[in-house]
Amino acid sequence: MNSELEKLHPYPFERLLALKDSVEAPAALSPIALSIGEPKHPAPAFVAQRLSESLDGLSRYPFTRGEQALRETIVDWLGQRFKLPANSLDAQRHILPVSGTREALFAFAQATFDRARGGYVLMPNPFYQIYEGAALLAGAEPYYLNTPASHGYLPDFDAVSEQTWARCQLLYLCSPGNPTGAVIDSARLQQLIALAEKHNFIIASDECYSEIYADESMPPVGLLQAAAQAGYDDYRRCVVFHSLSKRSNLPGLRSGFVAGDEKIIADFLKYRTYHGCAMPHHHQSASIAAWQDEAHVEHNRHLYRAKFDAVLAILPAELGLTRPAAGFYLWPQTPINDVEFTRGLYAQQNVTVLPGSFLSRPTRDGDPGENRVRLALVAELEECISAAKRIRSFIESLS
Ligand SMILES: Cc1ncc(COP(=O)(O)O)c(C=O)c1O
Repeated sequence: MNSELEKLHPYPFERLLALKDSVEAPAALSPIALSIGEPKHPAPAFVAQRLSESLDGLSRYPFTRGEQALRETIVDWLGQRFKLPANSLDAQRHILPVSGTREALFAFAQATFDRARGGYVLMPNPFYQIYEGAALLAGAEPYYLNTPASHGYLPDFDAVSEQTWARCQLLYLCSPGNPTGAVIDSARLQQLIALAEKHNFIIASDECYSEIYADESMPPVGLLQAAAQAGYDDYRRCVVFHSLSKRSNLPGLRSGFVAGDEKIIADFLKYRTYHGCAMPHHHQSASIAAWQDEAHVEHNRHLYRAKFDAVLAILPAELGLTRPAAGFYLWPQTPINDVEFTRGLYAQQNVTVLPGSFLSRPTRDGDPGENRVRLALVAELEECISAAKRIRSFIESLS
């Protein structure tokens, strides 16, 4: 077996299942799960319809590079959403459809990290664990960038030494962040692009929560947008990852894309030809319909806002919560250890949350997941309200 498999950490949900196995939840209360970041709003009906009308491609192999029509739709969407200079993106050269960003984020490190050179893959901490697994299986050393409350839930990039940047081959960004919802601004992204130029590394910006944001007039900025603003309209060293899973409530469609630096996209396509992960024709047709419509996305944001309004009004102040700029998570501090909090809440209230330390790693500067939990506001409004009330009761029972 590949000996690097042994370096992989158990996935957070495996650890959560083991934790719950040791506890009995009260049967009189209906179970509520705020633990999994899986959207629960209905998938748009027009997308399902397009899917079922597009089955004539079942007898043909799809191309790894996807159909031109999908790539053109993506170019239009990116251009409008991130105000990119006209003609700076070409559907043939800058875009690749992917079967969900999870596989793409993983595959990207395998394709780009040069084992012979060695070095780091930098990533936020806490994180989406795929970044870490991807780095480990690519033969890299993960380097964790803590995102503490004291730093606006973003990494302190200024504190990273020149030697560390010099050893960095790949930087994963997650903006808006999972689990913190914090957004990296354009000035900071431009600074990171300049560092990537200086130290010859690639930036992989996971932007799969970019369409779930609090203020309709302030959509989060993206890496390509920042690159264009800084004059890098060839997007060199920059690649973004976008998904229909959260934007359009389509996690089961497995549809996203990567876009950016033409040379990196060409090499990634070469890798993916062997990897074998082309998106089925009917998923591509359905994806075109989804990327072309913004009304359902706006409605989706409206639903999440209503849940944040309601839940934040119920949860006690001691959780230290403010409304995140984007995403659908809350990342409260817990009055007791996060694992004990999760266990106790489940045992007393039948509400499942995810311990923060299952999403983070301890570092010399502490463990930024310790004494925090992640709450995903994915359930229907009424269920989120019940969950918030039960969390409040549990906290009251602690004092
Ligand atoms: C930060 C982050 N990136 C990527 C993904 C993967 O999403 P998908 O593979 O559905 O596009 C997730 C899913 O939860 C996520 O939280």
